[in-house]
Amino acid sequence: MATVTVKASTEYNVIIEEGILGRIGSLAGELLPGKVAALITEERVNALYGDRVEHSLTEAGFTVFRLVLPPGEETKCLPRFGEVLEFLAKHKLTRTDAVFALGGGVIGDLAGFASAVYLRGIRYVQIPTTLLAAVDSSVGGKTAIDLEGGKNLAGAFHQPAAVYCDPLVLKSLSPRVFSDGCAEVIKYAVLKGEPLLSLLADPQKADWTEIITECVSIKRDIVEEDEFDTGMRMLLNLGHTVGHAIEKQSRFAISHGSAVAMGTVIAARVSEKLGLCRKGLAEEIKELLTKYGLPTDSPYPGELLADSLLSDKKRAGDTLHLILPKELGDCVIYPVAIEELSAIFDTIL
Ligand code: GLY
Repeated sequence: MATVTVKASTEYNVIIEEGILGRIGSLAGELLPGKVAALITEERVNALYGDRVEHSLTEAGFTVFRLVLPPGEETKCLPRFGEVLEFLAKHKLTRTDAVFALGGGVIGDLAGFASAVYLRGIRYVQIPTTLLAAVDSSVGGKTAIDLEGGKNLAGAFHQPAAVYCDPLVLKSLSPRVFSDGCAEVIKYAVLKGEPLLSLLADPQKADWTEIITECVSIKRDIVEEDEFDTGMRMLLNLGHTVGHAIEKQSRFAISHGSAVAMGTVIAARVSEKLGLCRKGLAEEIKELLTKYGLPTDSPYPGELLADSLLSDKKRAGDTLHLILPKELGDCVIYPVAIEELSAIFDTIL
């Protein structure tokens, strides 16, 4: 068991503990003033853990209203966002009550955004059930939905009241969903280096409670420094800027984690090409990703990705900020003029 305390605009604990799903009611009961809980989840997660979490909450004296949504990214949309808000209103949640987001990044982002907006903000608790949500999206208060124009285009910064993470749920993930999370974990290893690199050295001996705790601690440090994403929080985009371009080109046939893995290798190749890091770093990162079942070679040529990058939301004026590794554990935010993009990407793919 481990606790990581995040001191952002609100202070909260991320508790990582095997079996914590059965203790959520008593933990939340000590923390929250109200006794009404809206449990927002999706069908697959609901079948596995919905009753256990609801039972834990009712045992602790909560009245629980449960909303079960369809699984998948399509759920992170405006109509479902409206459905969650209407659900909270129908059950008359007040500002002392709370939302419990039980699921992966889609449910966490959607329920978190609804909590940010309903009554101008009520408390919510993140209960991540994927590795990606455990190490990234459940921590740090970024909430969002997708619009027709793109992913995460509407959202708010709204920190959770607590994050309860049960590493035992990782056992129920498909290999693909698990690998997607590994891409985020390896992102942290490239950003911070040790002790995460050693914890990841042998996949057979990986201790996921320790690994999740280390990733959350790294994210905590970054979020405490730059909660509202105006500076160093951009480091968390390592592999993501190019990764999003790859996802988009594949019409999302390539999963987020696979695309981030490819994007991380490309970032290291760009860094090698620009002379920011030693030759061979990209190959080392590639080996680590491969160990965790991730693909590393983009099927798309550089000029196609450069075109796609030009429409990336992270572009600031005529400059795009790439996150490039100088060494394992040392990455920089590197501004690139958009007219240089094609030349940089053309020769490295
Ligand atoms: N997922 C990136 C961030 O929280 O900033």
